[in-house]
Amino acid sequence: MTPPAAPESSRSAAMTRPLIERFRDRLPVTEATPIVSLGEGSTPLLAAPRLAEAAGVRELWLKWEASNPTGSYKDRGMTLAVSKALEDGAEAVICASTGNTAASAAAYATRAGLPALVLTPQGAVSGAKLAQTRMLGATVLEVRGDFDEALSAAQELGRRGTHALVNSLNPNRRAGQKTAVFEVVEELGGPPDGFALPYGGGGNTSSYAQALAELGLATPLVSVEAVDRRATLATAIRIGDPVHAPAVERSGARVVSATDDELVDAWRLLASSEGLFCEPSSAAGLVAVLRGDVEGDRVVVTITGHGLKDPAAADRFAPAPTVVEPDPDAIAGAARGATRRDAP
Ligand code: F0G
Repeated sequence: MTPPAAPESSRSAAMTRPLIERFRDRLPVTEATPIVSLGEGSTPLLAAPRLAEAAGVRELWLKWEASNPTGSYKDRGMTLAVSKALEDGAEAVICASTGNTAASAAAYATRAGLPALVLTPQGAVSGAKLAQTRMLGATVLEVRGDFDEALSAAQELGRRGTHALVNSLNPNRRAGQKTAVFEVVEELGGPPDGFALPYGGGGNTSSYAQALAELGLATPLVSVEAVDRRATLATAIRIGDPVHAPAVERSGARVVSATDDELVDAWRLLASSEGLFCEPSSAAGLVAVLRGDVEGDRVVVTITGHGLKDPAAADRFAPAPTVVEPDPDAIAGAARGATRRDAP
């Protein structure tokens, strides 16, 4: 099945330059690879001066991966995984997911005209991510089990050949995810002193390490996992048995862990100080920087997914609104105390 032909003016049915086009020479594609794109990659690299001050570093940059089309960094790898699946004649894709891979697989499979089968651990995935994935046309099966069990089942169906596996075990996913590092190094005009990012299954950490190796860089990588991997409130990284642990270990990345309290504090600080609302897991890299685990004057923290991915978590921690009459004096009275912050 081939998607409808792109208009003459673009090769990929998108005016925004697809990630595969931007990094074509460094990705496993040929002229024959059909490009399935939703305008992923080329995400903002934002200075975070208030957080830099809080962390005691000169420059803190945030790689805002929430700007990807489905709201998380997964789209970088998914554009490649689904394009290659299409090229290889796959008839369907499958993944196990804590929610973001699910939404990304659903979106790119739909774009490619392929069915997507998504396995999620029952009761452990944000409702918004499930709704997004369902809306995008995937078949969602909630597995009575955890993420690791769902992934084993997805791998087996991949082996049987009925579905192309689009988890980060798929090397095309990891190849696509390397591009975040390429972008950062290009935009900063050189490597930062360190990168920090969350560690769930470890696919992204091993992709970053691979990208640095390809660039001939030895930039330190700090990968932050939840202390309580199996029960963290950051459901995106609720993974007991990270499948890429051996690769993460080989990569030389420094693995540190964060408590849920630390994750929540960093997550709220990012929102309240810099105006950036991510999901709780996405603040993991920030925990390491705030704690002084990432050395150097110029550090880059990858913020992996948007806050609207998990509104229930925000609802739990953000201040509740006050109910007022539609009366200006009552409103002015209720608003007293809300003061302006000076720009840095
Ligand atoms: N941040 C977010 C927002 C994620 O969704 C994930 C993983 C990670 C970080 C961790 O990345 O697994 O490469 O170490 N989400 C997967 C999913 C497991 O199914 O969406 P990792």
